[in-house]
Amino acid sequence: MKLNIFANQEQLHEAAAQTIIELLRQKPDAVLGLATGGTPVGIYEALAAAVRRGEVSFARATTFNLDEYVGLPPGHPETYRFYMEQHLFRHIDIPPEQTHIPDGNAPELERECERYERLLETAGRIDLMLLGLGHNGHIGFNEPGRVLHSRTHVAVLHPQTRKANARFFRTPEEVPTRAITMGLGSILKARTILLVVKGADKADIVHRALTGPLTTECPASLLQLHPHLVVMLDEEAATKIKRAASG
Ligand code: F6R
Repeated sequence: MKLNIFANQEQLHEAAAQTIIELLRQKPDAVLGLATGGTPVGIYEALAAAVRRGEVSFARATTFNLDEYVGLPPGHPETYRFYMEQHLFRHIDIPPEQTHIPDGNAPELERECERYERLLETAGRIDLMLLGLGHNGHIGFNEPGRVLHSRTHVAVLHPQTRKANARFFRTPEEVPTRAITMGLGSILKARTILLVVKGADKADIVHRALTGPLTTECPASLLQLHPHLVVMLDEEAATKIKRAASG
């Protein structure tokens, strides 16, 4: 595991964006796995700026998002499709048909999961998977529990996840109860995983995920098995890990 700690969020965003930019320069047709939520917004801004400056192109890249809520009407501002258009896709030169997000309105959700899984298989391995971390240790919407799933599946959102995401909705009741998410197998198959975690409220969980036992109760703990895990933290998220390292 490569652990990088940044003095502030701007530096972290730039460094994460730079990792993606360098990959695209070496491999213009790279397959990227993407996350949504608060964590990657600044990274996407940095990527959009780099495209504007002509420093990188996404024209040959393919993207796969981790997840999408079930049941939000198409175009709803909290769908992850809308988020991706708003924060990244409309600012970069990627052809829309090269961007993939599960369809949370598919009439048959199981079929949609199979379709997404097939798309992932056809694309080959994800070159770089960008991940945020939930307060309960989830990655994508692979929630803590007795079992974890390897493949794309419909997940029931943990009450803590719905509470955390309520900040994006008008009322907590509006947060969907289910989502389609890539499974742990698809995530762990990526050549490189870039885990980005920010803020004092994630210091405990990132410490537990990266130094604690491997357990389905903390899905992100499985990342410890990955041979190319890059972790980028801001100072606040790193406090507990740093304390543990200094004995
Ligand atoms: C989003 C996703 C989630 C988030 C996690 C952290 O696509 O898969 O696992 O990365 O919930 O969310 P934020 O960044 O909002 O704290």
